[in-house]
Amino acid sequence: MKQQIIDLIEKNVEGLNREEISALIEIPPKPELGDFAFPCFRLAKTMRKAPQMIAADIKDAIGEVDFIEEIAVQGAYLNFFIKKNIFVKSMVEAASADNFGGSNVGDGKCICIDYSSPNVAKNFHVGHLRTTIIGNSLYKIYSKLGYDVKRINHLGDWGTQFGKLIVAYKAWGNEEAVKKDGVGELMKLYVKFHDEAKENPTLNDEARAWFVKMEQGDEEALKIWQWFKDISLIEYKRTYDLLGMDFDYYLGESFYRDKTDDVVNKLTSANLLTESEGAKIVDLEAYDMAPCLILKNDGSSIYATRDLAAIFYRKDTYNFVKCLYVTGQEQKLHFSQVFKVVELLGNEWAKDQLVHIPYGLVSLEGAKLSTRSGNIIYAEDILLEAVSKVKDIIIENMEKKGQDIQDVDGTAKMVGVGAVLFNDLYNQRIKDVSFSWDKLLNFNGETGPYVQYTYARCSSILRGLDNYDENADIDYSLITDAASIDLLKEINRFPQVVVDAADKYEPSQIARFAVAVAQSFNKFYNENRINIDDSALKHARAALVKITRKTIKDAMLLLGIDCPEQM
Ligand code: ARG
Repeated sequence: MKQQIIDLIEKNVEGLNREEISALIEIPPKPELGDFAFPCFRLAKTMRKAPQMIAADIKDAIGEVDFIEEIAVQGAYLNFFIKKNIFVKSMVEAASADNFGGSNVGDGKCICIDYSSPNVAKNFHVGHLRTTIIGNSLYKIYSKLGYDVKRINHLGDWGTQFGKLIVAYKAWGNEEAVKKDGVGELMKLYVKFHDEAKENPTLNDEARAWFVKMEQGDEEALKIWQWFKDISLIEYKRTYDLLGMDFDYYLGESFYRDKTDDVVNKLTSANLLTESEGAKIVDLEAYDMAPCLILKNDGSSIYATRDLAAIFYRKDTYNFVKCLYVTGQEQKLHFSQVFKVVELLGNEWAKDQLVHIPYGLVSLEGAKLSTRSGNIIYAEDILLEAVSKVKDIIIENMEKKGQDIQDVDGTAKMVGVGAVLFNDLYNQRIKDVSFSWDKLLNFNGETGPYVQYTYARCSSILRGLDNYDENADIDYSLITDAASIDLLKEINRFPQVVVDAADKYEPSQIARFAVAVAQSFNKFYNENRINIDDSALKHARAALVKITRKTIKDAMLLLGIDCPEQM
């Protein structure tokens, strides 16, 4: 419908192309202002006429149109009222299309998303939960727009900390304990190392020596390191399974260890490296930034060096149009430095193709968690606790309402995990996330469970319809009430919402849209009975339930959340 309005304006107005017209067209907030509005302020400048007059002239030029009820001039706006039945039909049909909300603007172009990326031998904590959830949602959103997205897990699996761990393991560790407690035991060893090193600083030299051995390919060192990494990955994968998430590549920092020399060579030929206290740096003073450290005084590479190597590797291998990095805000400077260095090496594309996507902190004050050790919080524990709480709620509801839910465990998992994800994605990512079980699991709030519940309600309405024919012709002229039209308009925002979410790297736009559709549906459902005798009206209303159900599911999938048929 919008395209047809654009056609009309394009034919009757000079000096604006389709894209400009499309950007100007608004969806009025109130039905009294029509279905589409076109503001004429901008034209006033070029045409040197009052916008009201321009609006009136365009209206005259357009004249009668078969699908339009009325065009009204209100102030500087042209308000288009589409013939109701035509509008309803077009909205239902658009929303029924398989790829509704999606498009092929991405045209197979590659986007790399670097996210999750926990640090080996450390626990997968709530901060890593956020990058995982946001990164996964961006992957879904960009895929929906036709991009070829590479999900990259840039594991923190290289660096001096592994030298420390090897020293600690050899001094105080044993195989049994590590096998039994995995990452928990490795973290204890790490803490022990730091305690002991305070008394006995030579331990630090030993640790450095072991890392140097690792960098030189020493067999024993690498064997222990690989073992620690395997153990960590088993735990991380348990969390990913619970989340229903996966990666295309697990290419951690260690993957780039033989690619950092090339970075150093590039920087040397470009005359960008300077010495500073024995270390090699790129001076970034001209850009108001601290220098980017490339090689330490013992010649070993660091985090930034490996990130530089990763960027060149990804550009060569995937030819990305964008490479996104989802991490906490505290890494802002690190990425600004690294991106600047890439640019200084003559790569203009670094300016708009490398994007850091920061997010806020998680505060757990509102959630009492039974943590396994001290105050170290594992993402896995939060997810499992959510699932178990939801299971209790479901069982209680079943007893109270005499409801029979077929797959209690499956539903509890979908809803519990979904609630955590939704809570994380509902607010702008840069905001801090507060975590309270009451808020997160409120089936009536702006929550995952509320949206899923609305989905399950749609499914149950459709299951319960008498004499319903899936393929019956629909009489769209029967849908006239405000609640139905509002619902249709809400649903039809989906394609634009997906585009906006992608442009701003902001899954919250999808989460908010899902809540808006659910609220709009519940209003519609309050005012419209569905399973009625009037067959034509029943079928027309059921068509709305169907597209609501489908749109909610598709929107939730973009957040990484599935919806249960019963709840
Ligand atoms: N391992 C890092 C951390 O836990 C995140 C890595 C982000 N990605 C990157 N290419 N630097 O903080």
